[in-house]
Amino acid sequence: MAMRFLIVGDVIGNPGRRAIKKLLPHLKEEIQFDFFILNGENLAGGFGITKKIYQEVKSWGVDVITGGNHTWDKKEIFQFIEEAKDLLRPANYPPSVPGRGWNIFEKKGLRVGVINLMGLAFMNPYLENPFLTFDRIYEEIKEMADIVVVDFHAEATAEKNAFALYALGRAQIIFGTHTHIPTADERIIEGKTAYITDVGMTGVLNSVIGVNLKDTLPLYLQGIKKRFHVAEKGEVVFNALVVDIDETSLKPLKVQRLQKLLSWEELKGISV
Ligand SMILES: [Fe+2]
Ligand SMILES: [Fe+2]
Repeated sequence: MAMRFLIVGDVIGNPGRRAIKKLLPHLKEEIQFDFFILNGENLAGGFGITKKIYQEVKSWGVDVITGGNHTWDKKEIFQFIEEAKDLLRPANYPPSVPGRGWNIFEKKGLRVGVINLMGLAFMNPYLENPFLTFDRIYEEIKEMADIVVVDFHAEATAEKNAFALYALGRAQIIFGTHTHIPTADERIIEGKTAYITDVGMTGVLNSVIGVNLKDTLPLYLQGIKKRFHVAEKGEVVFNALVVDIDETSLKPLKVQRLQKLLSWEELKGISV
């Protein structure tokens, strides 16, 4: 018997939420997942997460929502993250930052430890070293968790690769998020760890990682960053990873990338 994980990367705003809601019946029936993880840093208008959206995502059957650099964009997060035990933010933020970076969740009689980390390369320089943060958390949870899963939210592919090999055999699943672009390197490393550098986003496909082209052009043409808005009303891409973990050996058995395209017509009637 295997425990099946459905892992969805950054979900971008209203089009991303519509796509997940539309696909949910299919995912439940065809994929028959046991444990659902979704990166939620871009759920609310592309920037952050609100309490209302958090509750909506929970109603979809998501077990854990992970985060990243955009976790803090909607300021109400500071009011509810402490109580939301299944809403993680990167664990390597300094200890004074509210919320938690890891937690343990029981499912099918197994204890699943989920850890959220953020890379340092080309990102926020004020965080702790994620490799060392992982070492510390792993020592704490290794007796408490049967399966360890890491969302490594990072920009640089090399940093993600290095982390996967560093944590090999300690975490059974390591998936990357943040770039919004899926990578084609999903595999099981040495029979120990299922890995992908980036799951990719769920959002409007012909956009600049989910944002309107016209909002980004001042940056590229003039070097001036204007306000970004989520791209809407276009074809939406859904990217996910499905991982099977053997319930006896607790080792990964299978890893598979999943991509679906939805026309805007199909998503019109979906309210989120
Ligand atoms: Fe993101
Ligand atoms: Fe991010």
